[in-house]
Amino acid sequence: MEAKSFWVRLTTLVFIIRGWRQTVGCLEQERIALFQLKAFFNHPAELKDWVNVKGSNCCQWKRVECNITSKRVIDLFLDSTHQSNSNGYLNVSLFLPFEELKSLYLRNNKITDFVDNKVSLSSALNNLEFLDLTNNYFNDSILLKLKSLTNLKVLIESEIFNTFKVRKCNRY
Ligand SMILES: *[C@@H]1O[C@H](CO)[C@@H](O)[C@H](O)[C@H]1NC(C)=O
Ligand SMILES: *[C@@H]1O[C@H](CO)[C@@H](O)[C@H](O)[C@H]1NC(C)=O
Ligand SMILES: *[C@@H]1O[C@H](CO)[C@@H](O)[C@H](O)[C@H]1NC(C)=O
Repeated sequence: MEAKSFWVRLTTLVFIIRGWRQTVGCLEQERIALFQLKAFFNHPAELKDWVNVKGSNCCQWKRVECNITSKRVIDLFLDSTHQSNSNGYLNVSLFLPFEELKSLYLRNNKITDFVDNKVSLSSALNNLEFLDLTNNYFNDSILLKLKSLTNLKVLIESEIFNTFKVRKCNRY
């Protein structure tokens, strides 16, 4: 009897853990998309837990925030993670899989421009509300492109002596 109830409990526990693992995990297509971002955001230490392992819970990865209900990525904190000096062109189609992405932090990344030849900035970053571009190599032509992001509420574009230059969107 004792042994039997032990096995029943153990089996139940295994099922609970399995169920829990399934419910907290992130979407596989978003995990793959995050891993693909590592080609550009290539800081070896900062993103070392972004692994190409099927089933790895990317919602628990450093610099990633998910909505706990939808399990979709909503915030990406990518400050100071692009290390290359040669290529400052960030391909925006890499962000297409993140359909619920609301905040994107891209400070200190030596980014010159957003590029895409298949998709528009507005379709790739459709739901974006907050964008921090401080301390990159963009010039003013970026503002024209960003006008297509209709949900954008806050754009932090530069920082001079620790004073944020924040543009409330739809007013610039
Ligand atoms: C999280 O996702 C749920 C379901 O999709 C949605 O109703 C809710 O507003 C989202 N919360 C945030 C903070 O985005
Ligand atoms: C951007 O990435 C997409 C998807 O991976 C690719 O098809 C496209 O050629 C890339 N564009 C540029 C300019 O590199
Ligand atoms: C501004 O940046 C864009 C994209 O990199 C570039 O094509 C353009 O020549 C730049 N304009 C100036 C005035 O530097």
